[in-house]
Amino acid sequence: CGIVGYIGHREAYPVVLKGLKRLEYRGYDSAGVAIYDGKNIKLSKTKGKVVDLENRVKDEITIDGSLAIGHTRWATHGEPNDVNSHPHYSNSGELVIIHNGIIENYEPLKLELINRGYTFHSDTDTEVLVNLIEDVKKNEDVKLGKAVQIALNQVVGAYAIAVFDKNKPDEIVVARLGSPLVIGVGEEEFFIASDASPFIEYTNNAIYLEDEEMAIVRRGKKVKVRKIKDDSLVDPYVQELQLNLEQIEKGGYDHFMLKEIYEQPRAILDTFRGRMLSNEGIIRMAGVDDNIEKFLNANRILIVACGTSWHAGLVAEYVFENLTRIPVEVEYASEFRYRNPVITENDVVIAISQSGETADTLAAIKLAKSKGAFVFGVCNVVGSSISRETDAGAYTHAGPEIGVASTKAFTTQITVLTLIALKLAQKKGTVSTSEFHTYLSEMDAIPAKVEKTLKSDNHVKTISNIYKDATNFLYLGRGYNFPVALEGALKLKEISYIHAEGYPAAEMKHGPIALIDEQMPVVVIATRKGHYDKVVSNIQEIKSRKGKIIAVVMQGDKTIKKIADYVIEIPETLELLTPLLTTIPLQLLSYYIAVMRDCNVDQPRNLAKSVTVE
Ligand code: G6P
Repeated sequence: CGIVGYIGHREAYPVVLKGLKRLEYRGYDSAGVAIYDGKNIKLSKTKGKVVDLENRVKDEITIDGSLAIGHTRWATHGEPNDVNSHPHYSNSGELVIIHNGIIENYEPLKLELINRGYTFHSDTDTEVLVNLIEDVKKNEDVKLGKAVQIALNQVVGAYAIAVFDKNKPDEIVVARLGSPLVIGVGEEEFFIASDASPFIEYTNNAIYLEDEEMAIVRRGKKVKVRKIKDDSLVDPYVQELQLNLEQIEKGGYDHFMLKEIYEQPRAILDTFRGRMLSNEGIIRMAGVDDNIEKFLNANRILIVACGTSWHAGLVAEYVFENLTRIPVEVEYASEFRYRNPVITENDVVIAISQSGETADTLAAIKLAKSKGAFVFGVCNVVGSSISRETDAGAYTHAGPEIGVASTKAFTTQITVLTLIALKLAQKKGTVSTSEFHTYLSEMDAIPAKVEKTLKSDNHVKTISNIYKDATNFLYLGRGYNFPVALEGALKLKEISYIHAEGYPAAEMKHGPIALIDEQMPVVVIATRKGHYDKVVSNIQEIKSRKGKIIAVVMQGDKTIKKIADYVIEIPETLELLTPLLTTIPLQLLSYYIAVMRDCNVDQPRNLAKSVTVE
């Protein structure tokens, strides 16, 4: 989500509206504003884009006032509709909040507030938070800032919030944990935003809040920053920004694709946040929990998808069959829908789609439903056609993916599917309790390990420079990493226009080996766990035909280091989880090669982000 706020001497609404448009790349399910003119709070919000909001504001409210907050939403709790849009009022109508993030323990908090007589109009965790603040404010008889602080200490999750109080017309309180928040410091005016893009033409001076910090922003006063936990004062560091607008939207990265590659530790964490409680040994996913019998009694699971999502489906096939012993088939949606497939009421169909709009996948879902199968969706875009058409589902929560080549959507799809498989395996007893716990704690460690894998960036860049002029690439992997090889090849094709093929390593001898000569770079995924010796033999076969070998190996590998031309290391993890790590260097490799070949990385020729034609 994107949040924006203004307090100062200007008319606030135009500033906030323009800011929302700049932040729209962060989410565009719904949008809203609250303007305060010192007497009345005027609030308007709507499902849809910021232009829809602009039109609604014209009809609904007057726009005068020098304090305003606005929000553009990427839904997490509750479908995108008018009521669930931000800002949210507290019950008294005196407090107004905007929030980016997820409050994990909102259910118990909500029950407690309902017991105390609070009523809720939306399904959001945010409305719980604003009423919690109100409750604290009343019960403890404290001012807004203190109430926010006490309330946040009861909250588990991630947030960037801005909240104001009708009784305090000169003040906005902001806080952050896990979601970005920056305060623009102008002359007698302040801007609040998720990144600096909404205010860059007004001021270069910015205070980036750190996690667990809050600030009271008062008209005409200095910004006061405190630690949420222990109330200690922090001396705010006012930074001078050097970036231009475009650079800011891309978070300082050169391309959205690179930004999204780098967002993966956070995106994967957001995907299992609130769902995987590793200490308690619980996986909680409403869409699965509510339909658990359907999954457990399934004759087989059929996965339908296109493109990168299809590759995530292939990884899931290995994961599901290994953990749950339920037979799995993976199909291209476009093939499935036209080949008169055998499908019954005892089948569970999982449709995977980042955009939730892919025409072939949507048609496959309709076909499966017409045969009586239970259809489960794994989508990234909340409220998308596929998320509405399926019987149940789980969102990936990766946040908007702008680069056409899919990156964080892929790893978060694998994350969601692995969680589902683990949940089913626990229920079926096909993994032991101790194995289950090991999986959860290893999964918990994945975001940090992805972060570590990203450190190979420079090394991958060097390798990219060496092979950027190759005309063909071969990608090999086995087991869980065979689909990663396919995905690596697809990424390279998509954005650098180099022909690339992905193959199961052992199949190489049945064809692609004929292509190998000294011009041919071969990317081999050779983690020490997955059929290691066999892959080492495959590498020898390439070497003896003078092929060039770039190997993705596990930390500390010695054998392959001796044979391969280049190795890229990933941290140690369970074999089943390696795709979440091995994918990362392959994304970087395709990215750098494309950049070095001067290709349009974010918008490669002939490709579209969302393919709504068949
Ligand atoms: C397009 C995109 C791919 C994507 C595929 C499936 O081809 O360029 O990146 O993998 O569609 O899209 P979906 O939104 O259904 O995952």
